[in-house]
Amino acid sequence: MNLTGRSFIEPPDFSVEELDGLIDFAGEIMAKPSAYAERAKGSLLATLFYEPSTRTRFSFEAAMLKLGGQVIGFSGEQSSSAAKGESISDTIRTVACYADIAVIRHPKEGSAKVAAAAAGIPVINGGDGGHQHPTQTLTDLMTIKLEKGRLSNLKVGLCGDLKFGRTVHSLARALCRYDGIEFILISPEELRVPDYVKVDISGAGGCAYREVERMQDVLPELDILYMTRVQKERFFNEEDYIRLKDSYILDAEKMRLAREDMTVMHPLPRVNEIAAEVDSDPRAVYFKQAKNGMYARMALILSLLGIE
Ligand code: NCD
Repeated sequence: MNLTGRSFIEPPDFSVEELDGLIDFAGEIMAKPSAYAERAKGSLLATLFYEPSTRTRFSFEAAMLKLGGQVIGFSGEQSSSAAKGESISDTIRTVACYADIAVIRHPKEGSAKVAAAAAGIPVINGGDGGHQHPTQTLTDLMTIKLEKGRLSNLKVGLCGDLKFGRTVHSLARALCRYDGIEFILISPEELRVPDYVKVDISGAGGCAYREVERMQDVLPELDILYMTRVQKERFFNEEDYIRLKDSYILDAEKMRLAREDMTVMHPLPRVNEIAAEVDSDPRAVYFKQAKNGMYARMALILSLLGIE
């Protein structure tokens, strides 16, 4: 696997073998982090976050620091020259004068691709609007592999805001390239998966899916339930958000309908969609998932920088 100098904008940028290689590498780092503590010494990561973030930004920063590298960046466009009207291309060209690798999160779909085209250094998409979030997917694939021991032959329920939820779009695109995956898409009619994602998941060699509205009907058949929050910031009016925000609430009672070995995932942040009482259920792995994300990003940074 050689990912040196490449960018990661959406999951299909990497082959299944390359994704598997990254997941295995992340597992090796997790098993012996001290062996990697100096690997990125002398390298600089830039974090360009035009949208709020806790896990993605902190896990990238923690990843680089734990590899012995350093980090510069901004959080909120008001603190960069974007507030003066600078384009993404000009900002990233400037950042590339100082940093060796950059992560960008931006509210506009396609922004990371624009940045990658202008950068001349590896650019990682930390979320572009309601489009894609490939490093969350890397985290999710790693978590599934660790929890289930495989990335094939799984029945996966994706639940919540499947229209605007970029983590779902990226995960569906990545997982459908593995064998025997079946998706159950659980959402209100208005928050269904966009057609372009459906085309991807059902395309050549793709996987089966069905769309349902009631979570309870399908809970007993799932290997994995991937919950998501309703994406308030992407709604055009608040009334629709208020009407749809509590469409699904996973609680202890509903968990009784699920299999003993079902895994509950969530990219976080959660709002109301998972009751706090579920956190102590051994099937709930969302905080483990957040931790895995740091190791997945350590593996990605080292690979894109070409450091063994
Ligand atoms: C997600 C995101 O930003 O898309 N968060 C994350 O990176 N873990 C999910 C969300 O905001 O709902």
